[in-house]
Amino acid sequence: MAYDRLFVLCDAVVAEQHAERLAPICAITAPEDWHMVSGGEDLKLWQNCPPVWQWLSERGASRHSILLCIGGGTVTDFGGFVASVYKRGIRTINLSTTLMGMVDASVGGKTGIDFSGIKNEIGSFHQPKAVFCDCAFLTTLPDRERLSGYAEVMKHALLIGQEAWQEAVSFDLFSDDLVVWESIVARNVAFKESIVVQDPLESGLRRILNLGHTIGHAVESLSLRLLQENAISHGHAVMIGLISELYHSVLTHGLPRDILFTLVSWSKEYYPPFFFTCKQYPELTAYCHKDKKNKKGKIVLIPLRGVGQVGEPTEISEEIVHECLDFYREMLGG
Ligand SMILES: NC(=O)c1ccc[n+]([C@@H]2O[C@H](COP(=O)([O-])OP(=O)(O)OC[C@H]3O[C@@H](n4cnc5c(N)ncnc54)[C@H](O)[C@@H]3O)[C@@H](O)[C@H]2O)c1
Repeated sequence: MAYDRLFVLCDAVVAEQHAERLAPICAITAPEDWHMVSGGEDLKLWQNCPPVWQWLSERGASRHSILLCIGGGTVTDFGGFVASVYKRGIRTINLSTTLMGMVDASVGGKTGIDFSGIKNEIGSFHQPKAVFCDCAFLTTLPDRERLSGYAEVMKHALLIGQEAWQEAVSFDLFSDDLVVWESIVARNVAFKESIVVQDPLESGLRRILNLGHTIGHAVESLSLRLLQENAISHGHAVMIGLISELYHSVLTHGLPRDILFTLVSWSKEYYPPFFFTCKQYPELTAYCHKDKKNKKGKIVLIPLRGVGQVGEPTEISEEIVHECLDFYREMLGG
C-alpha cells in the first residue's frame, strides 16, 4: 500500500500497557506523528475532532497519508470519522485492542461520533484499508470490557447458527487461552465481513447486525445521561437490548422460548442488572424513535425466528417496546 506518511491515533492506556508490542510501529514513525487520546465514549464528541485535524494539518498530513487507529471501538469509530472528512478523506488502518473492537467495531467501515446525547448521530461509511487483531491485547482488558465485547459475540452467534450459539454460551469468557480467542475473533470477523461485503452501506442485509441494538442503543443513551462516566458499557446495553428484543421475537415470530431463557440465565451470570422504571419509558422510546432503521416514524426491530434464522425488519408500536422493557425488568432489572 503506497503512502507518504503514517500518523498514529492511539489510546493512551494501550500505549502505556503495550509499549513493547507497539515498539515496531514507534520505530517507523516520529513521536510527533503520534496523537494520544483517552479511549471511552467521551472521546466520541465533536469537540475532540478539531485538535486531531489541527495536529494532522500542522504535521503536514496529505491525502496520501494514512491514519493508524490503535485502540478499542471508540478510537476506531472516532479516528475513522475524523479521517473520513480530513481533506475529504484519508485512508485508515485499525489495530484493534478490545474484544468489542476486534469482533465488531473495527470491521465494516461505520465511523461516528455521538451528538446531542444520541449515539453515532454524526458519522460516515469509511472502510479501513486493513484491520489487525492481536488477541494478546486482550490479556490486559478489564473484565467489564470483555463482557462488553462478548455481548456482540452472543449477538453474532444468534445470527450465525446453532453451533456458534452452543459454543458462545458454553465458553468461559474470562479464559486467557489465546488460541481459543483467536478462533472466536476469526469466526466473528469472517461473519461480519461476509455480511458487510454484500451490503456495505447498510441498505438491506446488513441491518440484521442491528439485532438488539434498537433497544440497546436507547438503554445506552439513557444510561449515559443518568450515570455519565459510570454508564453501563455498550455491550451491556446491547445485552439488555437482545433480551428485550428477543422477547418480541418469541411473541411474534415463533422464536423458541428456551433460546430466550438460555440468554436470560447466561446473562444473569455475567451482567449486573441495570435499573430503570416505567417513568423512563417515554425517554427510552424517544431514543428508539431516533434509530436509523426506522421508517415513517415507526420503530423497527430485527426479529429472530430461531438461531440462525432472521426475519424481515418489523415495525412495532411504542406499547410493544414497553412490553419488551417490562420483560427485561421482570427478569433482571427490578
Ligand atoms: N463502528 C461499528 O460498527 C461499531 C460496532 C460496535 C461498537 N461500536 C462502538 O464501539 C464503542 C465501544 O468500543 P469498546 O468497547 O472497544 O470501548 P473503548 O474503545 O472505550 O475501550 C474500552 C476501554 O478499554 C481500554 N482499553 C482499550 N484496549 C485495551 C487493552 N488492550 N487493555 C486494557 N485496556 C484497554 C480503553 O482505554 C477504554 O477505557 C462504542 O462507542 C460503540 O458504539 C462501533
